[in-house]
Amino acid sequence: MPALEFFETIRFDEKLLNAEMDRAIQAIENGKVLFFPNLKFILNEQETEFLTPNTLDAKSKNISYDHRRQQLKGTSCKVEKAAYLQAMMHRFCESSQKLVATILPQYQPHIHIARTSFRPAEIEGRVTSFKKDDTRLHVDAFPATPNQGTRILRVFSNVNPLGKPRVWRLGEPFEKVARQFLPRIKKPFPGSRCLLHKVGLTKSYRTLYDHYMLQMHDQMKADINYQQTAEQETIHFPAGGTWIVMTDQVSHAAMSGQHLFEQTIHLPVTGMAQPELSPLKILERLTEQKLV
Ligand code: SIN
Ligand code: FE
Repeated sequence: MPALEFFETIRFDEKLLNAEMDRAIQAIENGKVLFFPNLKFILNEQETEFLTPNTLDAKSKNISYDHRRQQLKGTSCKVEKAAYLQAMMHRFCESSQKLVATILPQYQPHIHIARTSFRPAEIEGRVTSFKKDDTRLHVDAFPATPNQGTRILRVFSNVNPLGKPRVWRLGEPFEKVARQFLPRIKKPFPGSRCLLHKVGLTKSYRTLYDHYMLQMHDQMKADINYQQTAEQETIHFPAGGTWIVMTDQVSHAAMSGQHLFEQTIHLPVTGMAQPELSPLKILERLTEQKLV
């Protein structure tokens, strides 16, 4: 199955035919990337000045924006410049919401808009611990923020001014990954997940679903042999292009590139057209138990 589903869209609020919406929801729920090679997030001249790692503060690898609290984190910009940066990120947040509303309208009543991120640093050659190394194939799962089964839908736009692509690898379908790694995953230590929440190490309760997802994430990244031999495809996402991925389901690795916007959107499994295709339902079927 090809990893990408192409769309001709050139505007974030473009009206689409019903057939296009059907194609989109089918594709994304089956683990494909919705790819809009000609959908450019346009920056004005002043905004292009933010396209440098200097926009980041010393300890951050991306700038994050919480549209609800109107709060910006991770930047060295102050006062007026910070307000201008925030306005740019707010516009990306709104643009990606419009895109999801037009291409995946069925999700509209269910979604929750989470963080917006801007990534002005080159990702190739960055040194991190293996668990944080996104150049290794993984499905998204985060230690401090349990998803409790909720889907992670992400909109990405490559805004590189020099035409540099964002290079990703895309791996095997979720069920194949799960079948490979589940047998290696131990049950959580009794009481450990309550304790994590009580002492504030997780923002909410780490469900069994979160336990299995996090273990899959870590074990995929730790397995060098798997990284090299798993069925995979390298994709060049062009500058001036946009793509939408359910990153909890799609095995992915980001290899190189600089200057990216990303919007995270959460979708409850009950908002899907086919909930049985979700990581939650697949893991519940394979482990023969309720996980949330
Ligand atoms: C990731 O989600 O693993 C990283 C994506 C990127 O920065 O291109
Ligand atoms: Fe990821």
